[in-house]
Amino acid sequence: MIVTFTINGEERSATVAGWESLLTVLRDNLGLAGSKNACEQGECGSCSVIVDGANLCSCLVMVGDCEGTTITTVEGIAHGSALHPIQQAILDEGGVQCGFCTPGFVITAAHLFAADPNPDEETMREAFSGNICRCTGYGALLRAFDRLAEDGT
Ligand code: FES
Ligand code: FES
Repeated sequence: MIVTFTINGEERSATVAGWESLLTVLRDNLGLAGSKNACEQGECGSCSVIVDGANLCSCLVMVGDCEGTTITTVEGIAHGSALHPIQQAILDEGGVQCGFCTPGFVITAAHLFAADPNPDEETMREAFSGNICRCTGYGALLRAFDRLAEDGT
């Protein structure tokens, strides 16, 4: 089947088997390898993307269900060559170690801060509970997100 969707503001189509995951199609068919395949079981959040306003694990989304959707991947977060404030804050606070989890954290942060520019600690911890950092970078990541919340980004 052919699936057509809007990804990062651009209409894209792919010839797929409907049962394939959105993550596989993003990475293998569309050249968007920013979303990472770390568990393929919905456990780690490394594959997070925003689909029609919902923050989802793309490894659990069947691409056949994505016809006509609007999708934001980590490649769509920066403003051209300028980092998004979320990306800059993570960089400044040293929140990137191996970096495997980072795209998922960026997507979750973008989703959270778009809805609430000044989330409290509990809201942030709940929002990021689906994103796992194997390098124990949580302290640096939370410092970055605290800073964004204080700035009201
Ligand atoms: S790769 Fe999708 S949640 Fe881990
Ligand atoms: S920086 Fe390595 S998994 Fe988070």
